[in-house]
Amino acid sequence: MSKQSITVRSLIEMKSAGEKISVLTSYDASFTRLIEAAGIEVILVGDSLGMVIQGQESTLPVTLDEMIYHTRNVARARQSVLLIADMPFMSYRTPGLAMESAGRLMKEGGAHMVKLEGGANQLEAIRQISSQGIPVCGHLGLLPQSVHKLGGYRVQGREQQDASQIREDARLLQEAGVDLLVLECVPDSLAAQISSDLTIPVIGIGAGVQCDGQVLVLYDMLGMNPHPPRFVKDFLQSGRTIQEALQAYADAVKEGSFPAKEHSFK
Ligand code: KIV
Repeated sequence: MSKQSITVRSLIEMKSAGEKISVLTSYDASFTRLIEAAGIEVILVGDSLGMVIQGQESTLPVTLDEMIYHTRNVARARQSVLLIADMPFMSYRTPGLAMESAGRLMKEGGAHMVKLEGGANQLEAIRQISSQGIPVCGHLGLLPQSVHKLGGYRVQGREQQDASQIREDARLLQEAGVDLLVLECVPDSLAAQISSDLTIPVIGIGAGVQCDGQVLVLYDMLGMNPHPPRFVKDFLQSGRTIQEALQAYADAVKEGSFPAKEHSFK
């Protein structure tokens, strides 16, 4: 591990110091080098690759072998970023399987942390993975792997009861050993509350500016999504190179100018 490597501990220190954490998805070596050069701290090999790389309608068809392949490509190019790999749909349906899948993402893919979606229903899987010394990132709010159950990609936690459930799930995840939490598409006030409840860093996507950090899908912030969700900003504006766009994103997250009100939900 090089001296400047970002670790779970560095992220907690950044939260304590009030320094925002910038995160982007990446799926290959070339973009990983550019993301590193922009000073972004964390790369997520998201199962969003099913949609942006493979052209699938959802993340559900993505396999563990595909996640390992893309994680390995990113791992070869990364120098100091912390590398998180998504656990794909059905790869953690039992605690034992979760441990196996997480182990493969770390051993074969070179991930430093694994991410899985869900709250109280995933506590045993999280405990098992964590007991093997594998850092875990939780994911609450809009859960893309549950899109069919949720009835679409909708903002979560607008009703009081749902908001209380997400807040309680966040607390339970932290207690079970989660090291980082992604909160997707929730009202900014709920995300602010959860970020202040927890000692672990909270990374928002469509969750307002008061989270401890932000994540976007790389191809979305490069303006490549023909139907971008409201929380996306195109940083590749006319005249900017890809490297400049990545730097503009990193700077905007650091100074708290992204997300603005128009990228957030009430
Ligand atoms: O798969 C992914 O890219 C993600 C982010 C949207 C958080 O989970």
